[in-house]
Amino acid sequence: MRILGIETSCDETSLAVVQDGVTVLGVETLSQIKDHTPFGGVVPELAGRLHLESIHFLAGKLLDRLGLTSNDIDYIAVTFAPGLVGSLLVGVQFANGLALGWQKQIIKIHHLEAHLYSAFMVPQKPSLPALGLVVSGGHTLLVLIRDIGHYEMLGSTLDDAVGEAYDKIAKLMDLPYPGGPQIDKRAVLGQKNRFPFPRSMCSDAYGYEMSFSGLKTAVRYTLEKEKPSLIPENLDVFKNDVAASFQQAVIDTLLYKCDKAVREFNPKSLLICGGVAANKGLRADLKIFCEERKLELFVPEFMLCTDNAAMIAGLAFHRQSAATAFVESVEASSPYI
Ligand code: KG4
Ligand code: ZN
Repeated sequence: MRILGIETSCDETSLAVVQDGVTVLGVETLSQIKDHTPFGGVVPELAGRLHLESIHFLAGKLLDRLGLTSNDIDYIAVTFAPGLVGSLLVGVQFANGLALGWQKQIIKIHHLEAHLYSAFMVPQKPSLPALGLVVSGGHTLLVLIRDIGHYEMLGSTLDDAVGEAYDKIAKLMDLPYPGGPQIDKRAVLGQKNRFPFPRSMCSDAYGYEMSFSGLKTAVRYTLEKEKPSLIPENLDVFKNDVAASFQQAVIDTLLYKCDKAVREFNPKSLLICGGVAANKGLRADLKIFCEERKLELFVPEFMLCTDNAAMIAGLAFHRQSAATAFVESVEASSPYI
């Protein structure tokens, strides 16, 4: 089964064709990062307009490159939520137009479930139950995955998402948008113990909820207090140390919550997804964390970590297969239904 996936929830216009849920035949993604960088973050109105400008062209480019026509596509999958309303609308309306013109059915996909699914787009699937950690620019959540489509939501951030905290801290440090990769690079060079930033809600008094706004404020106060008195030669070292200390506080908080969940639910594997899953420090610490607890660790390849349409088309295959299997089993059980 070949599915055309469409993803326009934030600042990437992405289209992909995926076969049977795992084989990515092709992806075309146009990132808008350069267009939003002058504003220090994503401008929703601009994002919607840019999706509109490029989506038709990207779809044509993808199908031409793969030598496919509408006859080769079985279903159209599109992200319906969550995301920027104007951006989502472009993707959904484009899908509606295609579905009407091509006479195909649409499968609506939740962006966060698709992020989790991206870890399943490998030949050797994660053993279940799995613990899923979604860390993106807009969301941070911990989920127990009993199966694809069967989830138990354990907790999420009460304020800033991890990626959002990275981007805001980077802005305070005069680093370009998106800040995550910038802080990641600097953290490698810095001292992670120099600034004792808080690890919020990391005690037995709390469940799986997380909070990163206090950490962000602590970093801001440190920058305001220390930066003015620095001589220019020390500025880079200072920024690297702030980046490393901030990043370690984030990692420790995420690992604290993962550890709690591992002890309570005894999962067989741990999946991490979303843009922050690209973070080198987090990947390295998670590797050790999983080795110590004999858990399989699944981190999607880079293209699947950030927003992409392959994960949308991939998950849609499972949705459709489950629906088809249900209908077939009902029909088999009674010829009169
Ligand atoms: O999942 P994603 O591509 O888009 C959303 O759905 O939000 O995530 C984007 C976020 C941004 O906040 C970006 O700064 C962050 O992922 N990010 C990183 C790294 N690469 C991207 N954060 C930390 N370290 C990285 N290497
Ligand atoms: Zn995302």
